[in-house]
Amino acid sequence: MLAVAILAAGKGTRMKSALPKVLQPLAGKTLLERVLTSCEGLNPDHSFIIVGHQAIKVENALLQKSSLQFVLQEPQLGTGHAIQYLIPKLKGFEGELLVLNGDVPLLQAKTIQKLLTKHRSYNSGVTLLSSRLSNPKGYGRVFSDKDNRVKSIIEDKDCNHAESINNLTNAGIYCFNWKELEKILPTLSNQNSQKEIYLTDAISKFSKAMHVEVENNEEVTGVNDRSQLAQCEAILQNRLKNEWMSKGVTFIDSNSCTISEFCTFGTDVIIEPQTHLRGSCVIGDNCNLGPGTLIRDSILGESVSVIYSVLNEVEVAKNVTIGPFSHLRPKAKVKEGSKIGNFVEVKNSVIGRDSKVNHLSYIGDCDLGEKVNIGAGTITANYDGRQKHKTIIGHRSKTGANSVLVAPINIGVDVTVGAGSVLTKDIPDGSLAIGRAKQFIKREWRQ
Ligand code: UD1
Ligand code: CA
Repeated sequence: MLAVAILAAGKGTRMKSALPKVLQPLAGKTLLERVLTSCEGLNPDHSFIIVGHQAIKVENALLQKSSLQFVLQEPQLGTGHAIQYLIPKLKGFEGELLVLNGDVPLLQAKTIQKLLTKHRSYNSGVTLLSSRLSNPKGYGRVFSDKDNRVKSIIEDKDCNHAESINNLTNAGIYCFNWKELEKILPTLSNQNSQKEIYLTDAISKFSKAMHVEVENNEEVTGVNDRSQLAQCEAILQNRLKNEWMSKGVTFIDSNSCTISEFCTFGTDVIIEPQTHLRGSCVIGDNCNLGPGTLIRDSILGESVSVIYSVLNEVEVAKNVTIGPFSHLRPKAKVKEGSKIGNFVEVKNSVIGRDSKVNHLSYIGDCDLGEKVNIGAGTITANYDGRQKHKTIIGHRSKTGANSVLVAPINIGVDVTVGAGSVLTKDIPDGSLAIGRAKQFIKREWRQ
């Protein structure tokens, strides 16, 4: 039998944030979600999340995961105090309790598997993950013999100078024999510098306590402050980008780009400097993204080129060129072969095949047919102060520079709109529409 408990009740004081620490985002997922991801494949009989500080927020963030049991720790008097709350929950339980700190987000599932296997082979009361750090500051120090038997853990703040030199640290990941831990928990005290009940004080009370050194120190980086959060983000970004490079994606200046874990890329995609992909994005083969581009929750077909632009919740078909300086907002759908150019904003609109919106336009709530040419400065006036209205433009129509299309309006196919027009009425197929004051000339005006 296996139970898992994730410690997520602490305040996260050092983060200096209104958001609970375990809900801080890291490459598109919260710390807590990442810890849950590292538990994937364990299939435990119980999964507990210990919540306390801003408990409702933390619970709400995980509501869709129905297999989790939330345990309220109130007040929060330390990691040992948190686990004491499991005593009534695990009455009669026989098996292992795996405890994970909610602020150790980079742990790989296989490392936990290894810890469990070792724990079983050692037949010990507790086995914990340790790591040797060049800078152990902030971590509890693990004191052990050469056979990896742990004598004690001393928290950073409780170490004297000699003890603090020990660089073998506690990762905050433990596999306990529950029956033994259950007896030890009530005996823990808070006689330490922080006046907290430490889970780490339980270790020296076990008949046999072992540690396993993690192979890759990065995995056990704990997040207490923003600097460690940034450190983890950098580690994750490197992991993600290296993975995509190995699958055929080029990053021209990888350090200046960030991607989310929910992005997928085809082959021969080139990501230019200062380009960021957030949320879930699907990027087709041969796309060229950036420099200076932000894309969020969007789907791009193959051979799309985007330069210095922002795309948010949009769908772009193949062979489309976007930018420089375009802003594609939610529900913009750009069909094959089209071009969205300089200083153009598109929202909730379909841009038909091979159409062009090249300069200085706002296209909102609009249906454009194929091979439409939108002249420079054309604006859809889609809002009457109360509601949004639709503009429809048929195949092969052209709007002259600086036209205002006052919606709702239906512009037929093969229509030509004269420059500077303000159009308020529907225009039949094949016609020329001009809606502007006639030019007036007064000769010999100067005299
Ligand atoms: C803890 C360990 C330390 C280890 C380090 C690894 C203890 C006493 N110390 O220190 O040995 O090297 O993690 O990252 O355990 N929490 C609760 N309830 C509480 C207090 C904390 O649920 O009352 C949760 C926090 O939300 C956090 C986790 O426990 O997710 C660890 O707490 P934190 O205060 O960050 O402990 P550290 O000082 O980092
Ligand atoms: Ca911590």
